[in-house]
Amino acid sequence: MSSQDTIFAQKTDTIPDAITVIHSRKSVRNFTGEEVTAEQLEILLKAAMCAPTAVNMQPWAFVVVTGRSKLDSLAEGLPFAKMLYKAGAAIIVCAITEKAFDKKTEYAIIDCSLASENILLSAEAIGLGALWTAAYPYEDRMGYVRKVLNIPEDVIPLNVIPIGHPTGEDKPKDKYKPENIHWEKW
Ligand SMILES: Cc1cc2nc3c(=O)[nH]c(=O)nc-3n(C[C@H](O)[C@H](O)[C@H](O)COP(=O)(O)O)c2cc1C
Repeated sequence: MSSQDTIFAQKTDTIPDAITVIHSRKSVRNFTGEEVTAEQLEILLKAAMCAPTAVNMQPWAFVVVTGRSKLDSLAEGLPFAKMLYKAGAAIIVCAITEKAFDKKTEYAIIDCSLASENILLSAEAIGLGALWTAAYPYEDRMGYVRKVLNIPEDVIPLNVIPIGHPTGEDKPKDKYKPENIHWEKW
C-alpha cells in the first residue's frame, strides 16, 4: 500500500474538486470500525486552521482522541453521539473566549464553527466520514467532555466530531430551496 493510499480512504488517487466535496458532504453516523491514521487526522487539522477568524485571532484548540477507551467514554455520556463507539477518532473543537477578537465568546464560537466545517469537508474530500455532535451550548455535555478530556473550565468544547470510514449508508440530503433566497436586483 502506498503512502497515498494510507491518506486517501477512497479508491481514487485524486481529491474531488471543492464544489463536489461541498455537495457530497453529509453527516456520517455509520462507520466500519477501521482505523483512522495520524496522517489523515493531520490533513483535517491543517484544514481546520485554514478557516477565517475575526481579526485573525484563531481562538481555538483541537483535542484529538484516538484511544478506544476515551472514545467509548465520550460515547457513553453523550446522548446523541453513540456513533463514537464505531469511530476511529474524534476531534473536539474548543473555543477560547480569551483569545477571541474583543474577548467575545460569540466570535470564538463563530470562528470555531468555521474550523469545524473545514474538518467536515476535508474528511469528505479524503474519503472519510464525520459529523458535528453537540457539546455547546449544553452545560451538562460540555461539563462531561471537559471531565473526560481534562479540558479547563474556561475553554468551551464546541462539539465532538467523530471520524471514521463510512459504511456508505449515509447519503447527502438535497437541501436546496430557492424560496430561501431573496434576490435584490435593483
Ligand atoms: C450545531 C449542530 C449540532 C449538531 N448536533 C448533533 C448531534 O448531537 N448528534 C447528531 O447525530 N447530529 C448532530 N448534528 C448534525 C445534524 O443533525 C445534521 O447536520 C443535519 O441533520 C443535516 O444533515 P447533513 O449534515 O447530513 O446535511 C448537529 C449539527 C450541528 C450544525
